Amino acid sequence: MRLPKAGTIEIAPSVLSADFARLADEMAEVAAAGVKILHLDVMDGHFVPNITIGVPVVANLRKHSDLVFDCHLMISEPERYAARFAEAGADHITFHIEVSENPVNLIEKLHKLGCSAGICLNPETPVAAIQDVALLCDMVLIMTVHPGFGAQEFIAEAAKKVVRVREIVGPGVRVEVDGGIGPTTAAAVVGYGADTLVAGNAVFGQKDRLAAIRAIQAAAG
Ligand code: DX5
Ligand code: ZN
Repeated sequence: MRLPKAGTIEIAPSVLSADFARLADEMAEVAAAGVKILHLDVMDGHFVPNITIGVPVVANLRKHSDLVFDCHLMISEPERYAARFAEAGADHITFHIEVSENPVNLIEKLHKLGCSAGICLNPETPVAAIQDVALLCDMVLIMTVHPGFGAQEFIAEAAKKVVRVREIVGPGVRVEVDGGIGPTTAAAVVGYGADTLVAGNAVFGQKDRLAAIRAIQAAAG
């Protein structure tokens, strides 16, 4: 599976807020609502103060879904582990610029493995940090909360960095936002130039997932 070509607005539900004992059903539910991308948050308890899923979980989920797996690596040593996630079935892998030793190498390595590549910026990291690699990526991810947990408050200042990122990458690269995205914040980030909206609590934290996804789509325009 490949990321949809840039130019469409896509909602990427984050399973961080899903029921981890029922992930296959949870994935099927959002797939039935028409989403194409599923956001999978990998945390190592080191780069972020939380631990979530690893390679075996991604490999098992892969057997149950045709969604595009957008793997967000919140881990200290992306160079060490990224290929294993690609081999487990991730379609797209995003790693953080703050901990990457050689981002150009890693992007090339992921492409060779048939995986698209993304670079991510924490709220306090300036856009200049990714200036030289952004155009090599298929998607740039701007964190709009401090990574580690779902259902945190949207950081409006961080979202404004999307404007500059969009200027740098032009229309051909996806720009994704992650954290605090929902019906009340979607319009602002799309206005700044984001086209891929991660939503954890605003989808899986809601009883009616179809209605939740529709509400974000309606707000995003
Ligand atoms: C947070 C994760 C997010 C998280 C977003 O560190 O990277 O993907 O699931 O959760 P919400 O949408 O609830 O802010
Ligand atoms: Zn994420």
